[in-house]
Amino acid sequence: MTGMAGRKAATPKRIAVLASGRGSNFQAVIDAIEAGTVPARCVALVTDNPEAYAIARARQHGIPVTVVDYRKFPSREAYEQALLAAMRDARPDLVVLAGYMRILGKEIAAAFAGKMMNIHPALLPSFPGLHAQRQALLHGARISGCTVHFVDDCLDGGPIILQRCVPVLESDDEDTLADRILVQEHLCLPEAVRLFCEDRLTITGRVVRIR
Ligand code: GRF
Repeated sequence: MTGMAGRKAATPKRIAVLASGRGSNFQAVIDAIEAGTVPARCVALVTDNPEAYAIARARQHGIPVTVVDYRKFPSREAYEQALLAAMRDARPDLVVLAGYMRILGKEIAAAFAGKMMNIHPALLPSFPGLHAQRQALLHGARISGCTVHFVDDCLDGGPIILQRCVPVLESDDEDTLADRILVQEHLCLPEAVRLFCEDRLTITGRVVRIR
């Protein structure tokens, strides 16, 4: 049999999300999955913060939660091992960093190379690291935005998947700029997740090709 009717639907990808706080990007991914836009199943939320609002979001949608509380570990290495174990337990096809506020260790970056993406509130490679919106304002940038990129072992440095831009207004402060960028993040992240789940992304060196 040929044609669409005979084509077997691809198995939905298993997505694990890492988030440290509010989780609005996590929610955008959940909503896109539930709307049928993204062929995936969110199988885990892993968080370093027992107070993260992302936990309530996960519970509302029946997504299992693992808290790996950074403060309960004697060293960064011990924390990273526990985090890696929690991530592996979820058997994800894709890991999405949606406001995960710690730097990931090299071992985790290597374990999920090409299978882990992050959303950052600036047009990388400009303004990596913390307070990206503040950095853009202090630098006098006229345009900023957000970037979804694959994660490697450089801070906010992996191959870029998608970007969306917003103007920086003279009246902006950090909050107004962050709010305007966040609207674009909520479009950009589910779109990048969708492309991954449809097997449409290939990485060649630093460059991501979208088929
Ligand atoms: C977003 O601005 C994201 O780009 C950055 O952290 C923030 C998380 O927001 N990495 P939320 O938790 O998704 O609401």
